[in-house]
Amino acid sequence: MSEQLHARIEELRNLLNKWNYEYHVLDQPTVPDSEYDNALHELIRLETENPDLLTADSPSMRVGGAALSVFEKVEHRTAMLSLGNAFNEEDLRDFDRKVRQGVGDQVSYMCELKIDGLAVSLRYEDGLFVQGATRGDGSIGEDITQNLKTIRSIPLRLTKPYSLEVRGEAYMPKKSFEALNEQKKLAGEELFANPRNVAAGSLRQLDPKLAAKRNLDIFVYGIGNVGSTGVTSHSQGLDLLHELGFKTNPERQKCASIDEVIEYVQKWQEKRPNLAYEIDGIVIKVDSLEQQDELGFTAKSPRWAIAYKFPAEEVVTKLIDIELSVGRTGVVTPTALLEPVRVAGTVVKRASLHNEDLIREKDIKLGDTVIVKKAGDIIPEVVGVLTERRTGEEIDFSMPSHCPECESELVRLDGEVALRCINPMCPAQIREGLIHFVSRDAMNIDGLGERVISQLFEEKLISDVADIYRLEKDQLIQLERMGDKSATNLINSIEASKSNSLEKLLFGLGIRHVGAKAAKTLAQQFETIERLQEATVDELVAVNEIGDKMAESVATYFNNPEVQKLISELRDLGVNLVYNGPKAVNVADIDSYFAGKTVVLTGKLEILSRNEAKEKIELLGGKVSGSVSKKTDLLIAGEAAGSKLEAAQKHGVEIWDEARLVEELKK
Ligand code: IVH
Repeated sequence: MSEQLHARIEELRNLLNKWNYEYHVLDQPTVPDSEYDNALHELIRLETENPDLLTADSPSMRVGGAALSVFEKVEHRTAMLSLGNAFNEEDLRDFDRKVRQGVGDQVSYMCELKIDGLAVSLRYEDGLFVQGATRGDGSIGEDITQNLKTIRSIPLRLTKPYSLEVRGEAYMPKKSFEALNEQKKLAGEELFANPRNVAAGSLRQLDPKLAAKRNLDIFVYGIGNVGSTGVTSHSQGLDLLHELGFKTNPERQKCASIDEVIEYVQKWQEKRPNLAYEIDGIVIKVDSLEQQDELGFTAKSPRWAIAYKFPAEEVVTKLIDIELSVGRTGVVTPTALLEPVRVAGTVVKRASLHNEDLIREKDIKLGDTVIVKKAGDIIPEVVGVLTERRTGEEIDFSMPSHCPECESELVRLDGEVALRCINPMCPAQIREGLIHFVSRDAMNIDGLGERVISQLFEEKLISDVADIYRLEKDQLIQLERMGDKSATNLINSIEASKSNSLEKLLFGLGIRHVGAKAAKTLAQQFETIERLQEATVDELVAVNEIGDKMAESVATYFNNPEVQKLISELRDLGVNLVYNGPKAVNVADIDSYFAGKTVVLTGKLEILSRNEAKEKIELLGGKVSGSVSKKTDLLIAGEAAGSKLEAAQKHGVEIWDEARLVEELKK
């Protein structure tokens, strides 16, 4: 009996997987929906009766199981980076020029549609889908596995037992979006703005049954780490993904020149409305993985790929008023209040005007008819004024002389365009500082957004960042729109943030001139806040990448008795004040030829992989850079080295072959 049961369950799973694939990946259903539903119900019944036979890759998982109370954080094994942007033909040609400078003229590009959805990472172990995550800040995302399983085009089991991380874009097809909004309209509910928001919102629902209802889909576009798959080009990678059972986008095209790329871009700009899903541009990638490797990355994005963004839609509306807000650093920013208008999928009511100079430059008056677009398709911006539509009733605007929040006099610091409120007790600055403290790149406290912080601040439950760690559940429950469960979750996220590594806190404190990257450098170098507090300006400047201005600012900040009091309060409240990431190496302490040198690798290496060579050089205190310049100390030229070798010869840079490198590394 049990053998029979096993066999039947296996048979149902195989059938359902096959039908799923045919319907959702190939778009070629072979059985009516009712047959699929019957088989699925039979499987669910058998699994419910025999829970020990349930497996994580069973197609029954796609209907969505129990709701979670919170999403776990997931560290991506390979960072999920974003791409640099191109907005016109010139930007594309510029990209091509730089690529060819790096790897020579033998380049082909893969062009793909840039799907407008949510980036996700899917991890497979021995062919089984084990974890799916959002992008998050690029290094840490959220575990949304149970929601991703409801996307039927995501294989739960691959056709081969590979272990790999796959990247893709989850999205909602236009038709599903329209149908959903149609339902909402009938129910008299507020409509969703665009398919991307619904896809992102659905995948961030704690209850997977909601995601299961949303008809989401996915196109995968890359492998996190090709490892031992044998793939040597991006296009082969995509073909492999297709073979493994994934849905890849069929409109991709290999192009032999930038002219062909531009043709592809133009074609899809026109054909965009006919697609069944939304795209916001074209992604162009160097096809050869070896060349990708050679080009490498900047701090934020790969040098071997670029995203061409379609031009933003522009609309006309009326500027009703200008509102002033005070930011974390006291800068007063004017915002245009607009007659609501639909732009690129959402209703826009406000747009930043940046500063007074911009208002004057664009000659913006209250009551004007203005052109609005979304910069990068996200942030609304006033492009200009239709002066011919003026009636004479428009009113000139000028910035106030006093802070709209605390009424102290505004000042314009030397060389700055912005007007600032310099009162450190200004409530607006304190509130914005708190919002910054909990934000993603800082302490990353989930559930503590702008709205909750503002409420807590207004209710006087928090007045500085230490107060966040004094909050109690009973106080939270009293807030508007805060239930028992959200309050518990919030308390848990606050608690969890206490163990963040020091750089998160340093960035969160909002020290002038200290961005996320500098915070990391400081934390890595000084390791504890006590050591950083004691550091002199000279010691700070001695750190690579810390300039005079920043060093002054850091020293002044920690000299302030108020700050010292705050830090000791945070310590007493149990907030971690120690760096717990990888250790910084002091190059001066390394006894190696490579210490402090900038090295460029080019050509094909035979003994080491390029990554191995890079890691080894870096371990010995060297810096590996992607291009040859005056600052280059050494070029390692492998087989068939081209333009970089020439450049190195021109600059008189020392040149070694791979054998010499290997020998030096052994020392
Ligand atoms: S490749 C290293 N290909 O666009 C970065 N991205 O900044 C690899 N996107 O957030 C990205 N379609 O989620 C790539 N065919 C495609 C894409 C695509 C959409 C998204 C992606 C990322 C953003 C690029």
